[in-house]
Amino acid sequence: MENKTYLITGGLGFIGANFIKYILEKYPNIKIVNLDLCTYAANPKYLKELKSDSRYIFVKGDISNLNLVRKLFKKFDFDYCINFAAESHVDNSAANPALFTKTNVLGTTSLLQAAREAWEISERKFKQGKRFVQISTDEVYGSIQRGFFNENSPLSPKNIYSSTKAAADLIVKSFFDVYGFPCLITRSCNNYGPNQNQEKLIPRCFKNAKKLKPIEIYGDGNQIRDWIYVLDNCAAIDLVCQSGKLGEIYNIASNDEKTNNFVAKKIINYVNKNINNKCSENLICYVKDRPSHDFRYGLDCAKISGELGFKPKVSFDDGLEKTLNWYKENM
Ligand SMILES: NC(=O)c1ccc[n+]([C@@H]2O[C@H](COP(=O)([O-])OP(=O)(O)OC[C@H]3O[C@@H](n4cnc5c(N)ncnc54)[C@H](O)[C@@H]3O)[C@@H](O)[C@H]2O)c1
Repeated sequence: MENKTYLITGGLGFIGANFIKYILEKYPNIKIVNLDLCTYAANPKYLKELKSDSRYIFVKGDISNLNLVRKLFKKFDFDYCINFAAESHVDNSAANPALFTKTNVLGTTSLLQAAREAWEISERKFKQGKRFVQISTDEVYGSIQRGFFNENSPLSPKNIYSSTKAAADLIVKSFFDVYGFPCLITRSCNNYGPNQNQEKLIPRCFKNAKKLKPIEIYGDGNQIRDWIYVLDNCAAIDLVCQSGKLGEIYNIASNDEKTNNFVAKKIINYVNKNINNKCSENLICYVKDRPSHDFRYGLDCAKISGELGFKPKVSFDDGLEKTLNWYKENM
């Protein structure tokens, strides 16, 4: 690939950092500016090997700071902007809705506005090859007992986090409708892999299992999630960025659904075999359910597989083993 310049936001977080590693390995001649506010969810250590890499520039800052974002678009002639930055934990969103709205909605809008100012040539005409990819989530569709959502399904988010993500998606889509702005949206299912914040299900279960502490599971633990290995999602995002059709939304999932109970038991089993044979399912304790807890998300991924030929490569068993091996070494 030619020497593209990327603005990656939220690149010290779980998926963003894995994406940076993935594309630097795949495209050795690219340049990356990583704009991240370094919230509690950031882990600079995960990218420490890039400190002396001339292809990588880190900027500490807030995506909702329009002046800062404008300056970056002026200084660097970005080809792509991929927006991973977000407040991403549902539980925190109930406690701090204004922060979620600021980052996820205003932050996305400020990036869109700066990108439009930098990339627009004349009415509905943009510089060649520019692309803005918004990283969204399956949660915007809301919960579904059976069946699957496709990209035309109505949005019906049921918590503050997913509502702010849905709002951002609508604004991105409006930039396409109103200005012809070159944007795309990905909506993926739950990711897992190295470097995920310990507030999320898999690392949290692992941490507690290792310490033989109670593993708290919401409700009865029968909620269903579809899990995709983070590098499979990175491959899909890259494909959408390179070859997706402008203005389009792409669902990304592995269609490998598991209950939270199943996932917790797999982790306990791993810890029992590899770390401490006293670890057992007795550690699981069920706690009061999260208010408005979505039961299941189901994504129809025919569009990304049909149009772009995307297929996830990593099975849940292999991906979980890799992930837990990483936490064993690094947590
Ligand atoms: N993790 C998942 O399973 C999953 C699934 C679907 C979609 N997503 C979406 O993918 C994206 C990345 O998720 P993640 O799990 O890596 O999140 P994360 O919480 O691990 O990381 C978010 C990163 O964004 C940064 N950030 C937060 N506010 C910022 C701001 N105002 N300005 C600049 N940087 C800021 C944080 O410092 C952090 O490094 C999010 O948009 C999320 O909605 C995540």
